[in-house]
Amino acid sequence: AGPGDLAGKRIVISAGGTREPLDPVRFLGNRSSGKQGVALAEAAAARGASVVLVAANLEVPAPKNVDVRLASSAADLERAMLLAAPDADVIIMAAAVADYGPAEVRPEKIKKDDTGDTLVLTLVRNPDILAGLAAARKPGQVVIGFAAETETDPALLLELGRDKAARKGCDFLVLNRVGWSEGFASERNAVTVLDSHGDIVIEASGSKMSVAGRILDLLS
Ligand code: C5P
Repeated sequence: AGPGDLAGKRIVISAGGTREPLDPVRFLGNRSSGKQGVALAEAAAARGASVVLVAANLEVPAPKNVDVRLASSAADLERAMLLAAPDADVIIMAAAVADYGPAEVRPEKIKKDDTGDTLVLTLVRNPDILAGLAAARKPGQVVIGFAAETETDPALLLELGRDKAARKGCDFLVLNRVGWSEGFASERNAVTVLDSHGDIVIEASGSKMSVAGRILDLLS
């Protein structure tokens, strides 16, 4: 681990949270700030990697020295990832991607006068971008996923992570607890990284930059 140890590696990182449009002025979103993904991009570039950052509605500035591609919805993010993935040695899906999106995007603003006191939205499952990238990965390509969970029981949290690692088919899964005040908006993070067998390979806590460094040590 250290300066230049990722030189020559091409790393594609998604960060932030997707917004699923409902109408021209509204969206369904999540509270991901993008801080952990941006810290990964910054740390990887500092260690010599060439970094593509697929940025979904970041609340923090994108680092310099990275190739930023903007994406807003899950569909945008999927397009950007599929475009960048073939040239990547490493893919890191740190973005919080909406699991569901509106079945239809209304061309005009939804008006309460037309809808009344209750409004029912129909949502449909979005494709799992990470699972798709993992299934399509070329030999030697490393795919890293994230799992943000609100489970408070550490044993159950680990179990959720193990299930997800198996289901997604990625090489590593970064598991972290999120809640009203931890994880997404916070400056700090605490993660457990699992390998594809569900075995713990890293436990790290601290600033998002130091956690990023520990995750990138897997690649050096
Ligand atoms: O299933 P869950 O949303 O908890 O999985 C989280 C991981 O899967 C993250 O790496 C996230 O970027 C990715 N994901 C995805 N496409 C989705 C939902 C999540 O790539 N539709």
